Amino acid sequence: MTNNTQLNKAIDAFQSNYQGHFNKFIDFLKIPSISADSQNSEDIQKAAQWLANYLRNMGMDAVQIFPTKRYPIVYGEYLKAGSNKPTVLIYGHYDVQPPDPMNEWKSGPFDPIVNGDLLVARGASDMKGQILAGLYAIESLLAVDALNVNLKFIYEGEEEIGSPSIVDFLRDHTALLKSDFVLNLDAGMVGENAPTIVYGLRGLAYFEIYVQGPDHDLHSGLFGGVVYNPAQALAELIAGMKDKNGRITLPGFYDSVIPLSEDERKELARLNIDDEFYKEQTGVEKLFGEAGYTAIEQVGARPTLDVNGFKSGYLGEGPKTVIPSTAMAKISMRLVPNQTPQLVNEQLNAYMKAHAPEEVKWKVIQLSSDPASVADPNYFATQTFARALKEVWGVDPIYKREGGSIPIVSHMKNFLGTESVLSGFCLPGDLIHSPNEHLHLPTWKKGILATIHFLYELGE
Ligand code: BES
Ligand code: MN
Repeated sequence: MTNNTQLNKAIDAFQSNYQGHFNKFIDFLKIPSISADSQNSEDIQKAAQWLANYLRNMGMDAVQIFPTKRYPIVYGEYLKAGSNKPTVLIYGHYDVQPPDPMNEWKSGPFDPIVNGDLLVARGASDMKGQILAGLYAIESLLAVDALNVNLKFIYEGEEEIGSPSIVDFLRDHTALLKSDFVLNLDAGMVGENAPTIVYGLRGLAYFEIYVQGPDHDLHSGLFGGVVYNPAQALAELIAGMKDKNGRITLPGFYDSVIPLSEDERKELARLNIDDEFYKEQTGVEKLFGEAGYTAIEQVGARPTLDVNGFKSGYLGEGPKTVIPSTAMAKISMRLVPNQTPQLVNEQLNAYMKAHAPEEVKWKVIQLSSDPASVADPNYFATQTFARALKEVWGVDPIYKREGGSIPIVSHMKNFLGTESVLSGFCLPGDLIHSPNEHLHLPTWKKGILATIHFLYELGE
């Protein structure tokens, strides 16, 4: 493969255009396209425009920005390879997570800086860098007239808030999005020298629980002791959702969970990702989780329940003696195959009915939620990608079920019947969703080379 001149020319084209590519990347990172915060809705529009322009300048056709109820979807295509060549649907999300907590950033989240091998900015790794990895690979092949596959592009601006518009969009544009498979670079690698194929993702069910006590905040001296404090009630409810062994106590929660087979456990153990790795990545001295499972088993194949935020009472400076009238918690569950958001919603409501004290009122609201997905690691395009990774890294890729979620993957399969090739060049230490997110540039460049190999081989 490597002695092929056209392929080598494409790789040369990438190297010689690198600086120009990199400058564009910086421009993209400067747009604070935070989907969770409605104050950034204009920035989201800007990022969509930026991508659409980028596709047009690359010579892609039919570039369009489709509005949705919330944030737009950018579409484009290149169908010049002809009908005897495969059509790859390239997926990405141009939105990013909020940068908070701001004071922990050593540089501005939207003022990208290069620090040695690292490019530091919100979205550098998750996933503006991965979007551009795909586009730079395509441009490199185009530059030497070696792009022999058809392409379609779908970029959304709502992935980090659970892709609330994606199902409707897929339903309404089934014909437009018809392709042989999806290339999704929103997953990551196990380590710098361990290119990775992800063949499963957990789903996510997201809830807000509201507890209401008195109808206004009360003086805690005049009224303390005679009303059930809603913060206390919610804290107790949350505390009861897991037992001391890390097992989730919602009624029937594990009934639909498919047990890990002995073979799967052996496979996971072979990955050599031990508990030490998780201690290093998190900075904790002792891990906590579901008893009887290793960390890697928990992350890939077991469901979780976590508090993502809790709000009640006075949080400003100094004391304020108050009994809050309300409390709210954001609770999310990572789901494994066979569990559905609907099912865990019912289980959460059943738990609340059984345990909420009668002195408070409560309600559970479900935010955008999506099921898990598993794919066939032997799918032909996945195997083509695996060969491309090996070509560049010199080692066979690792196959892994990942703990994160990418909502579109299960919907692509269910609504369009389309498989996804899931990989990416994000490293576990990239601090995605955390302060000081960064991209490891040498890994990213290798990833671009692998994507060039992949698209080239597909066109052969
Ligand atoms: N890119 C991540 C998911 C990911 C990271 C998968 C690393 C595999 C390896 C994605 O952007 C993400 O964070 N998704 C959210 C989705 C949620 C809001 C529905 C997540 O997992 O929290
Ligand atoms: Mn992402």
